[in-house]
Amino acid sequence: MEKILVIGSSGQIGSELVLALRKIYGNNNVFATDIKQPPREIRESGPFQILDVLDYNNLLHFVVRFKITQIYNLAAVLSGNAEKIPLQAWNINMKALMNTLEVSRQSDAKKLFWPSSIAVFGPTTPRYNTPQLTVMEPNTVYGISKLAGERWGEYYCKRYGVDFRSVRYPGLISYKTEPGGGTTDYAVEIFFEAIKKGKYESFLSENTALPMMFMEDAINNTIKLMQADGDKLSLRSAYNMAGISFTPKELAEAIQKRMPEFKITYKPDFRQAIADSWPASIDDSTAQNDWGLKTQYHLDKLVDTMLEKVAEKLK
Ligand code: SER
Repeated sequence: MEKILVIGSSGQIGSELVLALRKIYGNNNVFATDIKQPPREIRESGPFQILDVLDYNNLLHFVVRFKITQIYNLAAVLSGNAEKIPLQAWNINMKALMNTLEVSRQSDAKKLFWPSSIAVFGPTTPRYNTPQLTVMEPNTVYGISKLAGERWGEYYCKRYGVDFRSVRYPGLISYKTEPGGGTTDYAVEIFFEAIKKGKYESFLSENTALPMMFMEDAINNTIKLMQADGDKLSLRSAYNMAGISFTPKELAEAIQKRMPEFKITYKPDFRQAIADSWPASIDDSTAQNDWGLKTQYHLDKLVDTMLEKVAEKLK
């Protein structure tokens, strides 16, 4: 029987992933952990414990004590925040990864998921339909840490037999837990501000196209990758994941179709340069072929769902 540890369960991805995993593997087999208190649903549906992934001994102790077989390590400082504290962000992101790689190596928790990101690409990468294998010269701390992490993951897989699996997430759009400090966060904030105030000031310029994905698609595909037959995985670094690409202007127009009074203005900040260094669209055919990656949310479905759910949440 699988016993699953989720690190970072109070965050944007973790808070939804834990609930999805509990449905599949049983509430008591999915251990949620974070350094912050979780949303109520997480605490009430199964085990939660405060745990700092940077504390190696505690982490190893936890994994051995609860006979963990799989780890999802979602702890990270996102791109925008990382640029404000470069060295600290590097230390946190890398130590969090290295601790889980080592714990996997030293324990029975051989299966390890760790998210990479479109941030592994940089200004010299082909910008449209970015291939799986291509030039990678990220120029943000976050991107450098993700690229290094992919290399370490593959290394631990080949050298020590850790069953490392990863995807390069595009911007993730969700309503349950808001992200914090990312460059793609505008695409979440815009819905909350549209419902609260009927207007939004975007920190990215109107024609900045970026790949994005609705959280449900991200979670379903993450679990699919973790359940895939290991022999079918031609890559042990991280798979490209495309989602859908759109600009702030296109997203605003889709909202205006449903809320004609909604107004958008643009005031790019330091995150514009980060967005400009990332791909506008991605080729994820390797993931489709290896383990059946599939996306269900196109722009209209995403906008309908977000407007409905955010309105419910803010009520
Ligand atoms: N969404 C993340 C960010 O903007 C990228 O992985 O930082």
